[in-house]
Amino acid sequence: MSEISINKISKSFGNVEVLKPFTEKFKDGEFITLLGPSGCGKTTMLRLIAGFEKPTSGEILIDNKVVSGEKTFLPPEKRKIGMVFQSYAVWPHMNVFDNIAYPLKISGVKKEEIKQKVEKVLEIVHLSQYKDRAPSELSGGQQQRVALGRALVAEPKLLLLDEPLSNLDAKLREEMRFEIKEIQRNLKITVIYVTHDQIEAMTMSDRIILINKGVVQQIGTPEEIYRTPKNPFVANFVGRVNFIKAVSKDGFVELSNTGKKLPYNGDKVGKVIVAIRPEALRIDQKDGTIDAKLVSQFYLGDVNDCKVDLGNENIVRVIDHVETYGAYKENEKIKLRIKSFMVFEDDGKDYTKIIT
Ligand SMILES: Nc1ncnc2c1ncn2[C@@H]1O[C@H](COP(=O)(O)OP(=O)(O)OP(=O)(O)O)[C@@H](O)[C@H]1O
Ligand SMILES: [Mg+2]
Repeated sequence: MSEISINKISKSFGNVEVLKPFTEKFKDGEFITLLGPSGCGKTTMLRLIAGFEKPTSGEILIDNKVVSGEKTFLPPEKRKIGMVFQSYAVWPHMNVFDNIAYPLKISGVKKEEIKQKVEKVLEIVHLSQYKDRAPSELSGGQQQRVALGRALVAEPKLLLLDEPLSNLDAKLREEMRFEIKEIQRNLKITVIYVTHDQIEAMTMSDRIILINKGVVQQIGTPEEIYRTPKNPFVANFVGRVNFIKAVSKDGFVELSNTGKKLPYNGDKVGKVIVAIRPEALRIDQKDGTIDAKLVSQFYLGDVNDCKVDLGNENIVRVIDHVETYGAYKENEKIKLRIKSFMVFEDDGKDYTKIIT
């Protein structure tokens, strides 16, 4: 187990600050995910923790020991960290078994123990039958799993994973998600996991750190991030959302263009952005309060994925129970019930252009 303290860490390349000062503590055995769009600084943050980059300011402590600071800088090999990089590298001249065994060999572990540990790891990453193959005879996804096996075999206290599943097909990816989570629980290791896949982040993490353009937007459990996003960026990045400009006054938010009013007793007044998740909208002819028109509907097996016009071509997406599919015709008048919505300050950006 490893506890990590990050104190006011920032990173600039030249005069571009790619990570703004950031402070947080990761607990022993916690599964932390760095989530955000391409180029937001996820890999940079991981490389700072690993010791492949020196921070421009601030310090990093692992188990209360400064590993990066003004006067101290421990190289990666002294940090006892297991790692799988985004551009995972496996040694081309070694077969799968030897690749995974390598970290144990160089630390002088006995042959019999190496065999036992490597075989266990081979099973975990589903590569037992490939152990004699050269990396050139493996697919990208299989090579990625060799890299994961090699990081796991030394049983590190802290495991850093940079998009370790990006080359796997959907099914294997899902399977490996559970495997990694189980490994983390069984070995009680701290994991810092980088992904831009929100499903991966939601299913695996104890806490998610959502980053945009080098700035941490929110830190929280998957549920906190989904249910109480701090700003429209977070709401949109995790889950789907319809944004509608509105004005908040006298206990209501009034949706612009359509003039529809929703009861609201929160603290935001004046110009606001109302955000409604498609799954928080229901077609409900009995209890619905919002007049609308069905534009299109798609049968997805488990849900009915619709586009609905609130009036004046203000189109929102509605993800309803599949039973509503075909119950109404396109262009038919319907009523919508809003189960929940969020209200953000209007920061001047046009979120309504974001198509969910
Ligand atoms: N060595 C470097 N020199 C200059 N700029 C760099 C360097 N490494 C990263 N950057 C810049 O820092 C920013 C963050 O890069 P980083 O690799 O951390 O992004 P990321 O979130 O991992 O993206 P992706 O999801 O595409 O992997 C980018 O704008 C990138 O161009
Ligand atoms: Mg990256």
